[in-house]
Order: sequence, then C-alpha cells, then structure tokens
Amino acid sequence: MKSSKSQLDIHYEACPKKLEARNQTIIQSYRNIFHKKSIPANKQYWAICGRCSYKKGKLAENCEPDQLIKEKLIKSNQFHGVEICPEIYEANKNSNKQIHWYLGDFYESMVEYSNHNKFKPAIVNVDMLLMPKCGAEYLSKIMHFLTPIKNIMIVGNFIIKTRQHVATIEDMMKRLEKEPCFQSSMSSDNWKIKRQYYLYNGTGKTRTKMGTIILYKEVKRGGRYKDVDGN
Ligand SMILES: C[S@@+](CC[C@H](N)C(=O)[O-])C[C@H]1O[C@@H](n2cnc3c(N)ncnc32)[C@H](O)[C@@H]1O
Repeated sequence: MKSSKSQLDIHYEACPKKLEARNQTIIQSYRNIFHKKSIPANKQYWAICGRCSYKKGKLAENCEPDQLIKEKLIKSNQFHGVEICPEIYEANKNSNKQIHWYLGDFYESMVEYSNHNKFKPAIVNVDMLLMPKCGAEYLSKIMHFLTPIKNIMIVGNFIIKTRQHVATIEDMMKRLEKEPCFQSSMSSDNWKIKRQYYLYNGTGKTRTKMGTIILYKEVKRGGRYKDVDGN
C-alpha cells in the first residue's frame, strides 16, 4: 500500500469537500454516537494522516489535526498520525511537537505502539486510498485488532469510483461481510455499523468518489453513555 509521488502534492487541508467530510464522518458522528463534545482526556485519536505541513515547522491550516483541534474534538497531544511515505512523514514531524507522528504502515504502527505503550484509541480514522477489494481486508484487520477496546469509533474511508473502476458502498459491505476478521469481530462483540453511509466526491478536482463506513461500540450505562473507565 505504498503512496505515489503525487501524494506529496495533494493538499487535503485546502479542500472544502474534505473539511465537510471530516466534519460529518468524524466530528458529528462521534458527538452523535457518544454524546460528548471531545474525546476523553486519557484517550487517543489515531489516523492515516497524509501530509499536514507544507512550510517547515508549521502545521497546515485545516489539515486533519488542525481542524479537529480547532473544533475541540481533541487536543494536540491526543493526535497520533501515521504516514507510510517517508517524505510526507519528514514534512509532518516538526510541524507540531505535541502531536505524535509515525512513519510506517497504519495497522503495523498501532500494533507496535500497543506492544510498548498504553494504547487507548477513542477514534481510529482509516482514511484509505483503496478500492473495496483491498479496503475491506485492511479495514476488517484493523477492526479485529480493535475489538478488545470499548467505546471506540472506526471511520473507514475508501475509494468507490475512479476513472477505471466503479464500486458501491454495498460492494464494500458485501466484501466486509465475507472477511473472516469482520465475521469474528461481529460475533465476539457488540459492533454497530452506521447505516448512513457518506458519499462524497474525492479531494480537489479529481473525479474519484469516496465512501465512508462507520463502525462503533459504546457502553450504555443508566441511560447515559459512559466509558468503561468512567469518562
Ligand atoms: C487520504 S490521505 C490521508 C488524509 C488525511 N486523513 C486527511 O484527512 O487529510 C492518504 C495518505 O495515506 C498514506 N497511506 C496510504 N496507505 C497507508 C498505510 N497503509 N499506512 C499509512 N499511511 C498510508 C498515503 O501516503 C497518503 O498520504
């Protein structure tokens, strides 16, 4: 799942469609599901982050962490951003010292982190540049890994239409349902799928269409949603 050189030049932060998609699929979804404005102070936000800096030492305006921090969903030190492309990671890593930046594959980075640290994600944003065929396998692997964690929301973003390929959200669901990791996660815990799928045209001028599936688990206690650790 290597990114192409042109990934370096994509300005995700400058695109109003991307901003609105993040608002709908991440910020509003989390608030509607968990009835909280922000993720708990002891929890983390993990994302495939893409490029978040274009000027040395400066976080780009409206990039993913900037938007979420301004919206008060998270604080800087709660953002854990993973990027597979070394040039993008190098550009990101000095832009905000409180943010945790990682170079590598998203799934592997989370596994590696959890082996040595307290891994406490509240939101995991799997912002894939994959079609449903590979996307379903990758997303369900992550879902399976996150199944022991309570009060979590996974945002699965994938490509459903390019110039060469067309797929639908239903294709993604069908593919997910066939994945052993998805089946085992669904049967072992109370995962819910947000049936309201979001479709939006890809970033910038591209004709790519993206789709989003939200997977979540919450613990409801006494009519209020509470974290297992009381937050
Ligand atoms: C769609 S962007 C992320 C955008 C970001 N989440 C945002 O909201 O602005 C995709 C990025 O994922 C990176 N990428 C692709 N596969 C990856 C993987 N398996 N692990 C980590 N990064 C990956 C690409 O290099 C690219 O920069």
